[in-house]
Amino acid sequence: MTILETFIKNTSVPDNYSFMTAKEMEERIWEIKHQLKDKLFLPAHHYQKDEVVQFADVTGDSLQLAKISAENKQADYIVFCGVHFMAETADMLSKAHQKVILPDLRAGCSMADMADIHQTERAWNELTQVFGDTIIPITYVNSTAGIKAFCGKHGGATVTSSNAKDMVKWALQQKKRLLFLPDQHLGRNTAYDLGIQLDKMAVWDPIQNKLMYDSSDMEQLKVILWKGHCSVHEKFTVEQINDFRKNQPEYNIIVHPECTLEVVQASDVNGSTHFIIETIKKAKSGSKWAVGTEMNLVNRLSNMFPDKEIVSLNPNLCPCLTMNRIDLPHLLWSLEKIVENKPQNIIKVDEETKNYAILALNRMM
Ligand code: 13P
Ligand code: SF4
Repeated sequence: MTILETFIKNTSVPDNYSFMTAKEMEERIWEIKHQLKDKLFLPAHHYQKDEVVQFADVTGDSLQLAKISAENKQADYIVFCGVHFMAETADMLSKAHQKVILPDLRAGCSMADMADIHQTERAWNELTQVFGDTIIPITYVNSTAGIKAFCGKHGGATVTSSNAKDMVKWALQQKKRLLFLPDQHLGRNTAYDLGIQLDKMAVWDPIQNKLMYDSSDMEQLKVILWKGHCSVHEKFTVEQINDFRKNQPEYNIIVHPECTLEVVQASDVNGSTHFIIETIKKAKSGSKWAVGTEMNLVNRLSNMFPDKEIVSLNPNLCPCLTMNRIDLPHLLWSLEKIVENKPQNIIKVDEETKNYAILALNRMM
């Protein structure tokens, strides 16, 4: 069997699940949850579908889920309802007896895939030739374990959308400049927020293997942004905001910092997933919000707070397609495999990568 065949075989849900109704699958998932009790822990990211979130032991953003998974000691199985990089982080922070399972291995993240380790090593080589030892790498947690390990190895750290400002400040206390992987928008928004002017920022293009900048003096550069982005958050535009301002000016515009700088600057407030939830939760009854983040979360907020008007900033926005790969059939299948004592889709980071990546995670946590 080829590697591809093994991959397809292991990740394909058997056909019988397509003949089950949603109700049958839900009942069976509850049954298994009751059977496994504390041996099973089921964290779910806020962007997961409601059909999955209903079974979550805890929901959270990337930072919350990383911390909570690290605190859980009794579960033998952590069935992570999120995307691949989150499951990798959970594995690296889990205890030796714990197995982390991703119900569908195709639940990746297009942003994390925009920085592979070979491109990063190549970029680092070029950048250190130009800047010597004046540069430190930091990476958004939305990156592979390999990129986290790279940052750990080179004195850097991970950041999340909740702590990016503190971590960029920290990095600039360590070295004169930083390389921010893999999301150029979170990096640019954070640095701009800290008062760093755009002419002190450059973009590293990993395809052209080239540094792109406007400033005439390279020595002035403080922030080098990896040319990556989130395909969901990049779909919000200033035109959509202008439309609201013109036709429905009573709406507050709140966006995630994975949106472009122009969108963040044109919004009323911006912040992490956690910040968006808390801001809307605390907002006055009757207030109106156009939200620039993933659609499943926007719909959930709208259902949770019926006394407020909550809509997506982009009415045509799709949810995060990779997050949505986790669904009832995949969740049930992964739980059935645990019950059969043949767990599937175990996410395991090798020891060397893990040791370096943990250095980067610990510098953040
Ligand atoms: P946070 O959960 O850190 O806000 O990140 C958003 C995101 O895009 C997760 O994939
Ligand atoms: Fe990746 Fe964006 Fe989806 Fe988050 S929302 S998993 S960053 S593609």
